[in-house]
Amino acid sequence: MTVAAPEGAQRKLRAGVIGLGWAGQQHVAAYAADPAVDLVALSAMEEHLLEQFGQEHDVPGRYQDWKQMIAEAELDVVSIATPTFLHEPMAVHALEAGVHVLTEKPMAQTGEAAARMVEAAHRAGRVLEVSFNHRQRGDVTALKAVVDSGVLGNLYYAKAGWIRRQGIPGLGTWFTKAASSGGGAMMDIGIHMLDMALHLMGEPEVTAASASTHAEFGPLGRGGSGFGISQVEEGVPFEVEDLATAFLRLDGGGTMLLESSWAQWIPHDLCYVTLYGADGGATIEWGGDPTHPHQVLKVWTEVAGIPAELQPVVGEDGRHAAAIAEFLQKVQSGDWAAHEGSLALRRARVIDACYASAKAGAEVALAH
Ligand SMILES: NC(=O)c1ccc[n+]([C@@H]2O[C@H](COP(=O)([O-])OP(=O)(O)OC[C@H]3O[C@@H](n4cnc5c(N)ncnc54)[C@H](O)[C@@H]3O)[C@@H](O)[C@H]2O)c1
Repeated sequence: MTVAAPEGAQRKLRAGVIGLGWAGQQHVAAYAADPAVDLVALSAMEEHLLEQFGQEHDVPGRYQDWKQMIAEAELDVVSIATPTFLHEPMAVHALEAGVHVLTEKPMAQTGEAAARMVEAAHRAGRVLEVSFNHRQRGDVTALKAVVDSGVLGNLYYAKAGWIRRQGIPGLGTWFTKAASSGGGAMMDIGIHMLDMALHLMGEPEVTAASASTHAEFGPLGRGGSGFGISQVEEGVPFEVEDLATAFLRLDGGGTMLLESSWAQWIPHDLCYVTLYGADGGATIEWGGDPTHPHQVLKVWTEVAGIPAELQPVVGEDGRHAAAIAEFLQKVQSGDWAAHEGSLALRRARVIDACYASAKAGAEVALAH
């Protein structure tokens, strides 16, 4: 359906969600809690989840056929939280039907598929966003404010990573099949850290990537976790990486190291972004086992010529609710042409370049 911007800003937006795994459930909860939204339709393969979330949030439309939902539910906005290879066909179809789209990360299984989504948003004149919920963390928003104040000076190097002790999602499901996921740890969790680091650094373009990938746990059936609700299929080969390392060149001469791993011989999970600037540095780190979690945000600089360690006060984590609120604000702004998914497309192309580099065993330049 078509919504003119001025009216769209005044009346409640009609929202739908496709996919009711962990990710989809975050979208359902956020829409259901937002007074500016009517959550009117859900779609998933699991009848019992349609029933459960439909009843819990009083959602009238419950569909196993997502195309029927788009055709019938008169949506203004839809969230797509399905296996990654479905993001493109679902987003393009919804955009062509005039619906604004928020899709889960990663945007798509390849940069080419992501580019087709951006083209569809452009043609349709609708918002296309990707849910990078981790940049809504309280430590990230605090550090972003510090960076934007200029205290750290020119940022010329960053290290970012997400390394799990034992966290391969859905061993034997779409997650570990190359054609459906597009990749392993880098595509799944490295993308969050890449997004966070580029966002904090002020969106430098990545000009080249040199990466390597390894699969030492998955092929042996090691490193699995309970993440993901999709059906495990017997005999599905482990076709993606469980560790990826990358060295990225940034425009302006900066560089970034990115490491992503679903399973490692380490004591506990670790996530971090460390920024190195001309006038200061900063680090965000979180991880630990659930009984002993730790979280650090520190900034090092000089105050009145004296070396100083600053500990910014961290606000609440916004996570999915904040990512969804930001998407809704973009829809309600009426400035839809400014939000066609181009930043997320840049991330998809970086991941493509990393996989191409790992395959070639050589640095790969990104075309701009
Ligand atoms: N942002 C985050 O923190 C985060 C966390 C987890 C997953 N994700 C992303 O969210 C997406 C889904 O991940 P998940 O872990 O929830 O997956 P999952 O496998 O647990 O659930 C997938 C859901 O999609 C539904 N689905 C599949 N095919 C469908 C179809 N044809 N029509 C309607 N529904 C269909 C399934 O029924 C299921 O409800 C992935 O892209 C993943 O990368 C993001």
